[in-house]
Amino acid sequence: MEDLLRIDGLKLTFETHDGPVSVLRGVDLTVGTGERVALVGESGSGKSVTARAIMGLLPQRRVRIGGNLHFDGSDVLKESAARAKARRGRDITMIFQDPMAALNPVFTIRQQFAAVLTRLDRPLCAAEAEDSMRTALRDVSIADPERVLDSYSFQLSGGLNQRVMIAMALVSRPKLLIADEPGTALDVTVQQQTLHIMGNLSRSYGTAILFISHNLGVVRKFADRVCVMYAGRIVEEAPTDVLFSDPRHPYTRALLASVPRLSSDRLPEPIGGSVPDLAALADGCPFEPRCPSARPECRGSVPVHRFDRRSITCIQEVAPA
Ligand SMILES: Nc1ncnc2c1ncn2[C@@H]1O[C@H](COP(=O)(O)OP(=O)(O)O)[C@@H](O)[C@H]1O
Ligand SMILES: [Mg+2]
Repeated sequence: MEDLLRIDGLKLTFETHDGPVSVLRGVDLTVGTGERVALVGESGSGKSVTARAIMGLLPQRRVRIGGNLHFDGSDVLKESAARAKARRGRDITMIFQDPMAALNPVFTIRQQFAAVLTRLDRPLCAAEAEDSMRTALRDVSIADPERVLDSYSFQLSGGLNQRVMIAMALVSRPKLLIADEPGTALDVTVQQQTLHIMGNLSRSYGTAILFISHNLGVVRKFADRVCVMYAGRIVEEAPTDVLFSDPRHPYTRALLASVPRLSSDRLPEPIGGSVPDLAALADGCPFEPRCPSARPECRGSVPVHRFDRRSITCIQEVAPA
């Protein structure tokens, strides 16, 4: 599969009042054309910052960036702000955690959808725009698009608003859709429904999806491949079925163990400790203080081992089990 998005060794440091904070510390990530990739990890691991870098949405000042980020043949880190702006909302679109917060309560859905349509390559006349909005809403299983278009976001349920967001994000037939914890603010049934709709549409339109979540369980049925992120790096990456059946990195195992199971009466084990303070990272593996299989060597440098199907940065894998 050809890479639509290729990120190599992406490093990103914010200059804060308390000094520099290295938030991304060498991220390697690819998304193939039409592929569905999940980016998973606890809060603060750098998922949203990675998404903003891909969108070209990072502040120009107070940020130091290194490494490479190519999208569809363009060098995103070197291109002009105008070029990035032209791509946003057309070739790459994004949906966010809370649809209510992303929609503007002052305008009707129709007014907001019409604004989205102005970003398309080709300007649409009023009748074409109306037609395009209705089709897009029917695509996300909205049976009465007319009523929804006439409504304000606060008059619609969370699930409907979420579908409206998906319709808006896909109407330009983007090459890549970034979904940053979509529907986390909604209930689980609605979240699963919207994932299902998003998945079907990506398949019919050939849209690649980078799906960001803190919950490994949610991505299982959705993603072709999973990348697990910890403290600004991808620590493990594998096809979804492989990752679930044979997780290698202790952090991935801990994340999996923290997913609730219907078949069990017991509550899952939360991962002990907390995510490290990125401003004060010591040498060695950042997961070491929380790792059940940590060894003294883990406090030194983290050896990097490349496997043919994934890259793993854990010393555990040096010795065969
Ligand atoms: N504008 C900013 N200035 C300084 N630090 C930031 C900024 N944005 C995000 N961060 C820090 O970057 C780290 C990663 O954040 P984020 O990508 O939002 O995590 P995630 O989406 O995985 O929860 C966090 O420690 C966060 O505090
Ligand atoms: Mg986030």
